[in-house]
Amino acid sequence: MPRENRLLGRVALVTGAASGIGLATATLFAEQGAKVLASDVPGSPLAERFAGNPNVACVYKDVSDEDAPEVLVGAAIEAFGRLDILFNNAGICPTEPYLEQSQATWNRTLAINVTAVNRLTIAAAPHLKQSGSGRIINTGSVQSQVAGPTLTAYTVSKHALAGLTKQQALELGPFGITANYIQPGFILTGITETFLATAPKAEADAFAQYWKTKAPVGRLGQPIDIARGALFLALESSSFISGIGLRIDGGAMARL
Ligand code: NAI
Repeated sequence: MPRENRLLGRVALVTGAASGIGLATATLFAEQGAKVLASDVPGSPLAERFAGNPNVACVYKDVSDEDAPEVLVGAAIEAFGRLDILFNNAGICPTEPYLEQSQATWNRTLAINVTAVNRLTIAAAPHLKQSGSGRIINTGSVQSQVAGPTLTAYTVSKHALAGLTKQQALELGPFGITANYIQPGFILTGITETFLATAPKAEADAFAQYWKTKAPVGRLGQPIDIARGALFLALESSSFISGIGLRIDGGAMARL
């Protein structure tokens, strides 16, 4: 198979595309010939990131807005006339000790990480059906299967996303649509860089070292590591892979 243009003729919608995993994936999809509707929150550096890229159109939208599904899917169809790949990637990762959780954090985390994914997928489904080989890729986490200290709402949201993806795989499979979730380990992105920059230095160093040592490949992950996994799941030839969590963590979670 040629290594280039593996997504020629395909249209992708990528949320959380101004930074980290979403930015790397939207860029890789466009390099592979896809037309990409990239979206992120108002005020994010979205347009700057894709300036001069003829395969990418940008829309500023908070995925948890009431009208986000119709706005985002409508923009993809208006710009490119079809939709084949939905990458539900936008997410937040607030920290609060279990007994100090706020209801607002719980609500916002589940609204962005779970409810918005469900609503956007439902809005995209008619077009993914028309595609004949629609692809839903959701960004879960290694925390779709384990918990992490001070990360209650996040852990719950990523476990829920795993269940949601399986449901999507089940009910949309008959239309040629696959649904999978990616489980990144520790990846150097906006989320983790904020944590590393704001935590006490000793704690931040220890955390980064922990993940580096835990991963048998001996390094932290980069956004492109996840983008390559998303590309694999997006290919038309990945048509028998559905309902799975694809862990991309340098082998970290294989270690006891
Ligand atoms: P990031 O902070 O670099 O990128 C996330 C992007 O999502 C940002 O551009 C942000 O503006 C956008 N976003 C946040 N809330 C949004 C909303 N309501 N509407 C639209 N866009 C919104 O972080 P990263 O790491 O690239 O995050 C992407 C996904 O990867 C998230 O779902 C996160 O939970 C997941 N993840 C990241 C890991 C890591 O180690 N970086 C590990 C496991 C999962």
